[in-house]
Order: sequence, then C-alpha cells, then structure tokens
Amino acid sequence: MQRALITGITGQDGLYLGELLLSKGYEVYGLIRGQNNPKREMVEATLPGVKLIQGDLTDFASLLRALEIAQPDEVYNLGAISFVAYSWDNPLVTTDITGKGVVNLLEAIRIYSGDDPRKVRYYQASTSEMFGRVQEVPQRETTLLWPRSPYGVAKVFGHYMTINYRESYGMHASSGILFNHESPRRGYEFVTRKITNAVARIKLGLQDDISLGNLDSKRDWGFAGDYVRGMWQMLQQPEPDDYVLATGETHSIREFLDLAFKHVGIEDWAPYVKQDPRFMRPAEVDLLLGDPAKAEKKLGWTREVEFPELVSMMVDNDLRIQSALR
Ligand code: NAP
Ligand code: GDD
Repeated sequence: MQRALITGITGQDGLYLGELLLSKGYEVYGLIRGQNNPKREMVEATLPGVKLIQGDLTDFASLLRALEIAQPDEVYNLGAISFVAYSWDNPLVTTDITGKGVVNLLEAIRIYSGDDPRKVRYYQASTSEMFGRVQEVPQRETTLLWPRSPYGVAKVFGHYMTINYRESYGMHASSGILFNHESPRRGYEFVTRKITNAVARIKLGLQDDISLGNLDSKRDWGFAGDYVRGMWQMLQQPEPDDYVLATGETHSIREFLDLAFKHVGIEDWAPYVKQDPRFMRPAEVDLLLGDPAKAEKKLGWTREVEFPELVSMMVDNDLRIQSALR
C-alpha cells in the first residue's frame, strides 16, 4: 500500500487530493496545525480513514516527526499562507510559512531519507502568481518569474529551493506551477467564492450588494479536482520535473460576474456590485494565461470541467448552503 503525507490537508486542494489518494488505495496522512484546529472534524468526515498528525511548516522538528510517523512514499506540500492580499499585511509570517516552510520540509525529507535520496517523492505547490508582471503570454515552465507580492516572492523561493534539492541531492522533487483553480470548497476570501456566495445571498434576498476591488484583472481559472490529479501524475513519473497546469483560457472578474449573476437570472449586475478601494492591491497581477502543453503531452493530463460549468457549480453549491441557513 502506498503511503502519502499531505501538508495543507484542511485546505481546498488538500481535501480533493486526499479523496483522490484514498480512492487509489493510499494510506493518507495529513499534517494539521494548531492545538484545536476547527477543521479537524470536517477533514475526518470528508476523508474517512485519514490519519492526522500535529505539526507546522515552521516547526522543523514536527515535520521530521510527521515523516517518521507517516513513513511516506510521497509528500505533497500544499500548506501555505495562500491568500495574496493577506501577504502584504503579513509579509514575515508569509515568508516563514510559504517560503521557509518549504526548505524546512525538504531538509526534513533529506535527513529522513538517509542515504537514499529517492526514498520519498516530493510535490511542491508552486503557482502562476510567480509570473506576476508577466514576461510572456501564455506563461509556461520557462517563462521568467517576476513576482508582485510577498506571497509570490515566498513561492519563488520555495520553487527554486525544490529545484535546488533535486539538482543538489538527486531528490525526486517536482513543482506544479498551478494556475488559479476553484471549487465549491474554495475559501470565501478568494474572489470567485466571494462572488458566488454573494450572488446566492442576493438571489435569496439575504444581501443587497457585494464590494469588490479590481474587476479588470484576468485569471486562468480551472477546477481544483482536475488539478490534484495532475499533482499525483507528476509524482508517478520516473524523473522529477516542473509542470504548468492551466486551462489555456483567461477571463476577467467582470466575465466571472456575468456568468455567476446570469446563472440566477440576473442579466445586469451593475446595481449589485460596488467597488471598494480596500480590496485593491498595492501591486496587481493583471493577466494570467497558462500553457499546459507540457503536462498534457508528458503526463497525459486532461481537464474535465470548463469555465461556465465551474461557475455554475460554485453558484449552485452556495445557493444550497445559503438556502439551508435561511
Ligand atoms: P488553502 O485552501 O488556503 O489551504 C492552505 C492550507 O495551508 C491549509 O490547510 C492551512 O491550514 C495550511 N497551512 C497554513 N499555514 C500552515 C502552517 N504554518 N503549517 C502547516 N500548514 C499550514 O489553499 P489551496 O487553495 O488548497 O492551495 C494549496 C496550495 O497550492 C497552497 O500552497 C497554495 O499557495 C497553492 N496554490 C493554490 C492555487 C489555487 O488557485 N488554489 C494555485 C496555485 C498554487 P489551516 O486550515 O490550519 O489554516
Ligand atoms: N480576493 C479578492 N477579493 N480578489 C479580488 C477582489 C476581492 O474583493 N476584487 C477583485 N479581486 C481580484 C484580485 O485583485 C485579483 O486580481 C483577482 O481578483 C483574483 O484574486 P484571488 O481570488 O484572491 O486570487 P489570486 O489570483 O490573487 O491568488 C490565487 O491564485 C494564485 C494562483 O495564481 C490564490 O489561490 C493563490 O494562492 C494562488 O497561488
């Protein structure tokens, strides 16, 4: 039986990846932080049989201990401060967790692996946010990185550290450069979920309007369930490498609003949307558009959910949740 350790198991991707690995017969271990993490019960209910281990990416000793307990064949490092806006207010903790946390985990794996650098296969959750002020359209594995936020900078550090451990020690360490991926499990702080939740509440008469920041930025949005499959595929390759996962389509926040409001029968969303400078960023990533050709060719990675279906799925889910709360 294959054994996997997932950091960030309480997050969107951790839950989908946990489900995927359990369905493949893996023994799944998840790192959970905090003395009384409120998401523990939800994770145990969503992932029956998962084994949770206390630990924190900033605590090297806890990572070594987690490896000794889990004895994993594969480690997926999904844990991070992942909200870009938060990273400007909290740059040091973002650096410690999202950046330095990566080298803590790589170093713990190196020590745990002893004289066999290929004992554990490692996945690093890199991101399209690393492309920042994009130097090429579409962005691919070779595009120059130009991060625009403390989060982006911390992820670039983790990305290069992963490559460095691969090249220095011969570790099976791969990075997935994932473009934005969303789902009904997306956190409410991210723009897609903030919109779908508000649209549901507006439709049900529970809320009058929604305040947003920049409506003109464009993102390459896919479905998280499709992306975790790609993570797993990367670790099944004989050799480690870096891969972009993206849809190859980009849409503005305005287009997301169009589809989300249309789904509940509202054609003109202008009366419901306010712009609030509080949600504008000190430096914006204007356009993300990825080229997934390498992952499609080498991994055989495919996507099942298209953009309109993703938006409808998220709005329907929030309609269900909000109706039940009424
Ligand atoms: P998410 O829902 O925000 O989950 C983040 C996870 O990190 C949570 O489980 C959180 O645990 C955990 N975490 C935070 N601080 C930690 C610490 N000090 N030690 C250990 N774990 C910690 O993020 P996601 O959307 O699933 O994304 C997963 C990963 O992919 C992240 O690294 C993210 O940066 C990256 N990524 C995401 C996207 C995307 O579009 N979703 C795209 C590219 C890359 P708590 O619940 O305890 O806070
Ligand atoms: N969150 C948020 N809230 N974003 C807003 C708002 C708002 O009220 N109004 C406009 N936006 C714009 C942001 O300025 C940004 O251009 C875009 O919506 C997307 O913001 P987020 O949904 O917060 O995602 P992100 O693109 O910054 O980051 C996500 O994707 C990255 C991959 O590119 C996160 O999941 C990161 O962890 C991930 O690495």
